[in-house]
Amino acid sequence: ETINGEGKFLFPGLIDVHTHLREPGQEDKEDILSGSRAAVRGGFTTILAMANTQPVIDKRALAEFVRLQGVRAGYAQVLPIGTVTKGMQGEELVEMADMKEGGVAAFSDDGKNIQNGEVMRLALEYAKLTGLPIISHCEDKYLAGDGFMRRGIAAGRMGLKGIPASAESVIVSRDLILAEETGGKLHLAHISTAESVDLIRRAKARGVNVSAEVNPHHLIFCDEDIHLTDTSLKVNPPLSSKEDRAALIDGLRDGTIDMIATDHAPHTQAEKARPFAEAPFGIASLETALSAVYQHLVLTGKLTWERVIEAWSYLPAQRFGLKGGTLTPGSAADMVLFDPAYQEVIEPGNLVSKARNTPFLGQTLQGFPVMVWVGGRLVQENRRVL
Ligand code: NCD
Ligand code: ZN
Ligand code: ZN
Repeated sequence: ETINGEGKFLFPGLIDVHTHLREPGQEDKEDILSGSRAAVRGGFTTILAMANTQPVIDKRALAEFVRLQGVRAGYAQVLPIGTVTKGMQGEELVEMADMKEGGVAAFSDDGKNIQNGEVMRLALEYAKLTGLPIISHCEDKYLAGDGFMRRGIAAGRMGLKGIPASAESVIVSRDLILAEETGGKLHLAHISTAESVDLIRRAKARGVNVSAEVNPHHLIFCDEDIHLTDTSLKVNPPLSSKEDRAALIDGLRDGTIDMIATDHAPHTQAEKARPFAEAPFGIASLETALSAVYQHLVLTGKLTWERVIEAWSYLPAQRFGLKGGTLTPGSAADMVLFDPAYQEVIEPGNLVSKARNTPFLGQTLQGFPVMVWVGGRLVQENRRVL
């Protein structure tokens, strides 16, 4: 059978190192089946599932459960991330070696940041031995306090309590220093400020073993886009200033920021319908992220398509030691056929994720994956998950 790819792009299946699939424990928001269907609808063939589930992924059996649920679902490959501490709050390091046997791709404190540099240092020492990355959530929870958006002019105008940029850069600095001290592999999640980009650039120049990711929403939106009546842009870390956004794009362009990751953070409609101050942080993005990046960054000339695909497939595969990320003749194909002209209205009836917390709801986006293969098997065709 031949496929007519005229006018379309063929590239390796995207690898997203930052998704929240909410299973076990919060299946009203999302589960591994709905999340991995959303993934292949959005062009992702491998996704890493963050550890802040209920219970938290702090045991081998839990990691194996997540991986097996992914296999049972049969869509994207789902790789669990383990937590660095028991229940993500204690000060005790979990049995990392045991979880490694259970198939975790990395360890993280994401979603419930632990405030303990000693745990981070020990985790990085372990990373040095095993090569598994330690993912930092990059947030000082005391400096962040109970703010809802980035401290700055927009927050002041709205009368909203702000989160200072230092809440991120203080932990970025700490973890860069610890990675330098230990040699362990550090990955910085959802980088959102100019100051963080600067710190990472200087650390890389010194040879620190660090990689960093940026989320599409931090490249596309800024704090001025937030309205009190719309909680879809309430996210952690908060959207930053225009200047921060420009620095993130520059950092991604010059390789200071290695990769793009969605931080797909699904929540229920009831939760997101709460007043701004009470709604949970997070944007559900697996189904819109690639199109949004294509439309807002590639078509506007801010990023090249080659850089986007490298940052979302080849580099994540290299850094996390995963299969995929290239189109290698003879190997089982994880790949995407992308139609740059395909337009779609983002509406509830089309989404296969359980979540609706996307800022693109009701909007038309252009450029979508129209065929997706996982391990040589067609799993999405003409926008329908098979
Ligand atoms: C994430 C979540 O909902 O689990 N929320 C978010 O706003 N990003 C947690 C996180 O990634 O820090
Ligand atoms: Zn986080
Ligand atoms: Zn996250």
